[in-house]
Amino acid sequence: MEIERVDQIIEKHHGEAINLLQIMLDIQSENNWLSKQALARVSEKLSVPMTRIQHIATFYKAFSLVPKGRHKVHICMGTACHVRGATRILDTVEEATGIKPGETDLDLKFSLETVNCLGCCALGPVMEVDGKVHGKMSPVKASKALKTYE
Ligand code: FES
Repeated sequence: MEIERVDQIIEKHHGEAINLLQIMLDIQSENNWLSKQALARVSEKLSVPMTRIQHIATFYKAFSLVPKGRHKVHICMGTACHVRGATRILDTVEEATGIKPGETDLDLKFSLETVNCLGCCALGPVMEVDGKVHGKMSPVKASKALKTYE
């Protein structure tokens, strides 16, 4: 993310330290992660110590300090999904994307995570992409679904 864009986001929030969290959320949302350069700029402009910013960035799960893909893929490995073949879905997604849970591909297209339950067990096995639930997955369906994302 360009420093000018970071400045615009800071400006939008009147450059006030009280808006630090919202500024960080905006940068995260637009850039998919918080780069050291962006956070250093926020620290400088808002006169907030980097240690405080880092503490916030590591405390909230919404923030990432490493680059993330444009699409976040969650594979449910909870019991209901597991007994219906979640492992095969995970294997398929790993093969299709070339990444393991916790990783992001080099094109920054996908980030992959496993979760314990997405709250829609009857649809298992479940894959969620950017918050959209794909239920009753099969390896073929999972592979096809991933191809629809740019
Ligand atoms: S166990 Fe997968 S949605 Fe609940």
